[in-house]
Amino acid sequence: MKKKHLITWDTAFEVGIASIDSQHRTLINYINELAYTIDNRKIKTEVSTLFIKLYEYTKFHFKAEEAYFFTLNENDCLLHQLQHKHFIEELDRLIALNENETCSQEQLYLLTDWLLNHIQEEDLKFLQQHKP
Ligand SMILES: [Fe+2]
Repeated sequence: MKKKHLITWDTAFEVGIASIDSQHRTLINYINELAYTIDNRKIKTEVSTLFIKLYEYTKFHFKAEEAYFFTLNENDCLLHQLQHKHFIEELDRLIALNENETCSQEQLYLLTDWLLNHIQEEDLKFLQQHKP
């Protein structure tokens, strides 16, 4: 059976920095895999494992992005960092709420919405303003 993808990578998601674009692609792959797993009502442990993978990768990506953004503009980077922090707190809240570390389809849609919006609006805006 063909995998039903939630998001198809689009050039509109590109911010023009290879390492960041590649990490954003990986994030989207994790989201698609998680959406597929939830859609197909796979066992809870599989959903939990993927959700934790997405959580860990998001933290890794935010750190890497912040390290780069910091070299471009310290003040704006601190503001950007706050947005990342709020997103991680939201993930922490979901994990605590679900106890078993799973994630519902609706929660995943909300997270996906936030991430795509963040990439296309905030990451892009930061780079347009500060990229040398
Ligand atoms: Fe960001």
